[in-house]
Amino acid sequence: MLKKNLEDICNRQVEREGYSSSLYLSMASWAEVNGYSGVAEWLYVQSDEERMHMLKFIRYINERDSKALVPAFEKPETDFSTVEALFQQVLKHEQFVTASINEIVALALEEKDFNTYNFLQWFVNEQIEEESSASIILDKLRLAGNDNLYQFDRDIMSLRTSAPATPATT
Ligand SMILES: [Fe+2]
Ligand SMILES: [Fe+2]
Repeated sequence: MLKKNLEDICNRQVEREGYSSSLYLSMASWAEVNGYSGVAEWLYVQSDEERMHMLKFIRYINERDSKALVPAFEKPETDFSTVEALFQQVLKHEQFVTASINEIVALALEEKDFNTYNFLQWFVNEQIEEESSASIILDKLRLAGNDNLYQFDRDIMSLRTSAPATPATT
């Protein structure tokens, strides 16, 4: 069984990954309504990935004979000023999630729970990618996108580096 403090912090991450999924879904909807169909597509895929991250935590917690709890998620914002502001928010959110994952890694080491430590390595790597893809998008926007959002919107899906489908469990 997971120690109670690890069970709690993993359940906190269930909530954070689920909230990420809702946030990106809300952003996708905003982008779609405002005519940015490429940005919307990118965010819909991102939202699915976050749901998959949540599932990974749920299944890991249960696999360790503990109990995953599915919480209510805070209502995400529904309006975003510009595409660039939206992606700045994505980057900031991913940095927050990275810090959150790192806290769990630190606790797993402190408690000498090497299974959990191992499980978390996938997320450690994933967060490098998540932050880097948000940064790359912001770079592209600064380079040419703000003057040519049509082209940026058309090409954004080609900036995806990771394979979209990853299995729900490790
Ligand atoms: Fe995530
Ligand atoms: Fe993420």
